[in-house]
Amino acid sequence: MPTESVAVTCKVCGGRVHEFLDLGRQPLSDAFREPDSDVPEFFFRLAVGRCEACAMVQLTESVPREKMFHEDYPYHSSGSAVMRAHFASVAQRFLDTELAVADPFIVEMGCNDGVMLSTIKQAGVRHLGFEPSSGVAEAARAEGIRVRTVFFEEATAAQVRAEEGPAQVIYAANTMCHIPYPASIFRGVDALLAPDGVFVFEDPYLGDLVAKTSFDQIYDEHFFLFSGHSVRAMAEHYGFELVDVDRLPVHGGEVRYTLARAGRRAPSPAVAELLAEEDADGLSDMQTLRGFADSVLRIRDDLMELLRRLRAEGSVVAAYGATAKSATVTNFCGIGPELVSYVCDSTPAKQHRMTPGKHIPVRPPAAFRDPYPDYALLFAWNHADEIMGKEREFRRCGGQWISYVPDVRVL
Ligand code: SAM
Ligand code: TMP
Ligand code: ZN
Repeated sequence: MPTESVAVTCKVCGGRVHEFLDLGRQPLSDAFREPDSDVPEFFFRLAVGRCEACAMVQLTESVPREKMFHEDYPYHSSGSAVMRAHFASVAQRFLDTELAVADPFIVEMGCNDGVMLSTIKQAGVRHLGFEPSSGVAEAARAEGIRVRTVFFEEATAAQVRAEEGPAQVIYAANTMCHIPYPASIFRGVDALLAPDGVFVFEDPYLGDLVAKTSFDQIYDEHFFLFSGHSVRAMAEHYGFELVDVDRLPVHGGEVRYTLARAGRRAPSPAVAELLAEEDADGLSDMQTLRGFADSVLRIRDDLMELLRRLRAEGSVVAAYGATAKSATVTNFCGIGPELVSYVCDSTPAKQHRMTPGKHIPVRPPAAFRDPYPDYALLFAWNHADEIMGKEREFRRCGGQWISYVPDVRVL
């Protein structure tokens, strides 16, 4: 049950963080393990709370960044066709707007394998990615994209400003929420951003998390779970202003936040609309977040009951998508190979390894049909259309998908 932990202070404003959900002892969500490894796994306590002063929802414990983002970081952004199209359209939008000036320059933090910057590069526009995970950074470089294998922070951003001049756009997708040191990030943005430039980031949205009870969005890398209110407060805290927001359908529901230096741009009406919607839903209220925590426990119980019943009936249950998110599900619920025999995933760096903590074998997608399992637990539920589209034959052969978002059901 949720407990009141020892005082934890907010990584944005220093206020008191009140815990509302404890997801227990968890491994690094992307630490896929070699079957013969004898290296002890790293575990930490995954719990989430809300700052009483600025409403920022955040983990109560952070994992050292080098443990998560390194040479072997296995997540390749280009693995999804839907995400490739999404980032091509983001890039095109920047090219048509902010970058339609003389000698434009765009910087991306967490550019990964270059999924967004590839469109910028093709347009011949000056760009630079910051990507500390050298394996994926190398994949971007192989595409001709300019990347520095460093963490974006105050010193590295100031160095780029000195060497390359100011940027019209600083962009981050699924990266800002990974960073529990926002003060250094904002000082870096302040150093590198042109006076009228924009700092744009998109991350999983707390409103979607609560609406869908998608508690698997909570894991080591997702340190912050942003809302319009908490991002507005964070922007103001560091001398910026939230000037636009866009709801996005990707990754189970995200928001793209556009920040400018305070007073430099008129905020779009979409900002006030999102804040009003959050107020009407009580999104930042502790009562709402405690209600979310209760729903998480219900989903855990329903999922375990279903998996145990299927196993008792002799059905074969596999999973699809060895997502970082699924580490939270398997380790919180207690799902190992005795309940889910294997998980299929298209990422070579995850295949023939075992999932973190619960050690479910990861197999290539070809293994899925060899032969089909009776049920497939959809860990990559955020890519449901793409995956179920590819795997239509599974259903035709009598297979059934299991989802646990927004509740446990056989599809
Ligand atoms: N932007 C891509 C996308 O949306 O698919 C990649 C997202 S991936 C979940 C997060 C990336 O952020 C990782 O590649 C990681 O190495 C990188 N990262 C983490 N901290 C960073 C920092 N301080 N500066 C730049 N990149 C960082
Ligand atoms: P994500 O939810 O963090 O983007 O991770 C999705 C995982 O699912 C990633 O490991 C790649 C895998 N995947 C497949 O195996 N097949 C697919 O068609 C897609 C889109 C993803
Ligand atoms: Zn705070």
